[in-house]
Amino acid sequence: MKALAAALALTLMSALPALAEVCTPSDIVIKFATVVSATDNPKGIAAQIFADRVNAEMAGKVCVIVYPDSTLYDDDTVLQAMLQGDVQMAAPSLSKFEAFTKVFRLFDLPFLFPDVAAVDAFETAPAGERMKSAMTARGLEGLEFWHSGMKQFSANRPLLRPEDATGLKFRIQPSAVIASEIRALRAQPQSIAFSDVYDALRTGVVDGQENTWSNIYAQKLYAVQDGITETNHGVLEYLVVTSVDFLKSLPPDTRAQLLAILHGVTVERNAAVTAVEAKSRAAILAAGGHIRTLTPEERAQWVAAMQPVWAEFRADVGPDNIEAAQAAGRRPTNDAGTGG
Ligand code: LMR
Repeated sequence: MKALAAALALTLMSALPALAEVCTPSDIVIKFATVVSATDNPKGIAAQIFADRVNAEMAGKVCVIVYPDSTLYDDDTVLQAMLQGDVQMAAPSLSKFEAFTKVFRLFDLPFLFPDVAAVDAFETAPAGERMKSAMTARGLEGLEFWHSGMKQFSANRPLLRPEDATGLKFRIQPSAVIASEIRALRAQPQSIAFSDVYDALRTGVVDGQENTWSNIYAQKLYAVQDGITETNHGVLEYLVVTSVDFLKSLPPDTRAQLLAILHGVTVERNAAVTAVEAKSRAAILAAGGHIRTLTPEERAQWVAAMQPVWAEFRADVGPDNIEAAQAAGRRPTNDAGTGG
């Protein structure tokens, strides 16, 4: 299987534009690493649009190359590589920053945000804005939040009630909150790199997983699961990061133009995310994937089963942040932007 993965990575690498084709010698080069598909995942799409815009509007000054599908770094190595100056930008999910800060644990609390618009309202309010600088002292600067979507559970057997998950092994991201959430279901969490999830499900290393429609579709996870249950139990959010040193090294006007382009792309793509996720959900059905929906009573059982996770992490994430997130979820619907 490793040979197959290596061959796939080689094919992808050879399909990537070579640095010399895109960048001129005078350019400041930005390598932007992602673990996701460049075509089906909201982050992959946004990163490529950002690169295209910078390469057109800042030609001769800055050049961005996107490395999708873990072809440059996996999420467990990319942040250290960034601190060493080997990669300049990435947008790991907020569950991947545990070694640098605990503030993003808030986002993994189950059933905290009802939808992506609530996440957007929280992130664009002062409490969310402040979180972007949570890692400055550790050498990382958060630039923008990028949305992905709501997460769904899947497994190799039908999941309709929380008891259906008892005893199963679930692949998770390296997040203490998600690990606790799985244990609350009396199931076993196992942290596995995103690039290995398909194989882990296919070979039975784990029985189930949780992710967005776009990742379940792009990674073909639906094809190695009995079905997907539309739980909408959590959010997958990304933070576009760079290193403090790299950001400081940019001439002020270059930095301002780069960040303005990034913000424009953020507003545009965050507003489009619900449509991208809906397209992936439809594509899963069209490809023969099985999607189960929950009755309000069944959903209430999942909410109740995961409630202990809140108590465990309340002090860690801060009651004020929880309150601000809940208030964002209660906002009047016509008051909710989905922009950046
Ligand atoms: C995961 O590891 O499941 C996600 O964080 C992957 C991603 O970046 O969407």
